[in-house]
Amino acid sequence: MADKPEKPRTVTISTLLDMKRKGVKIAMLTAYDYPTARMAEEAGVDVILVGDSVGMTKLGYESTLPVTIDEMVHHTKAVKRGMSRALLVADMPYLSYEIDLKEAVRNAGRLLKEGGAHAVKVEGGMEVASTIKEFLKINVPVFGHLGLTPQAVNRLGGYKVQGRSPEAAEKILTEARILEGAGVCAVVLECVPADLAKEITKRLQVPTIGIGAGPHCDGQVLVSDDMLGLSEAGPTKFVKRYAEVRARSLEAISAYIREVRDGSFPGPEHSFTSQK
Ligand code: KIV
Repeated sequence: MADKPEKPRTVTISTLLDMKRKGVKIAMLTAYDYPTARMAEEAGVDVILVGDSVGMTKLGYESTLPVTIDEMVHHTKAVKRGMSRALLVADMPYLSYEIDLKEAVRNAGRLLKEGGAHAVKVEGGMEVASTIKEFLKINVPVFGHLGLTPQAVNRLGGYKVQGRSPEAAEKILTEARILEGAGVCAVVLECVPADLAKEITKRLQVPTIGIGAGPHCDGQVLVSDDMLGLSEAGPTKFVKRYAEVRARSLEAISAYIREVRDGSFPGPEHSFTSQK
């Protein structure tokens, strides 16, 4: 009798640690809605991130800064409905965790309780270490995020590669160790030199997930709209476009408008007849 096909394993925090130990790369992708979550699951992605990039990709904001905790909960719920196997991580948006610790803990808990996330992600190093420890006290697993942290875009002076000088690299490495010490289950490294990401990956027990951080991280993450070619803006250096969905959609919508105007849509095959 033929062997039953192996059921894909549900991804947990322990799965990710296991993957790092075994040298199996982690594939993480952002999703902000039900259909994208369904596709990511069907394709077999390990981790789905409801990034606060939702502000730019779906809500038309100029940065991630205006995104609210209510918007994150709303999108996390939609993504959750499309998932069964992957690990679901949701971003803590700007000002939802920096001011009041109690409020931060409540907001993190909401992403799990209402949104259905398995973990949250926060940006920053030393300054968020005590917040991370508080999240863990109510059993909220946390992903860290270092390098180019988009919520700090105004302080950083733009979306620039971080950690290029030896001092800056040392600071990011130190912060990665501080985050690990605080109890994060993974660290996202955004826009840092590949050799720095390699060193951090070697030094940490928890997985590193890179975006614009070269090939040596334990996993990779991309914004789904960027890799699918849905964004209007051209791709940045670290994004590989695996499809041109926007261009194909524009063609489709233009064809529809043309056919409505010339009367060729709807044809008889799209129309109903009366009972005789
Ligand atoms: O918000 C987001 O999509 C992110 C990724 C870029 C890692 O934080």
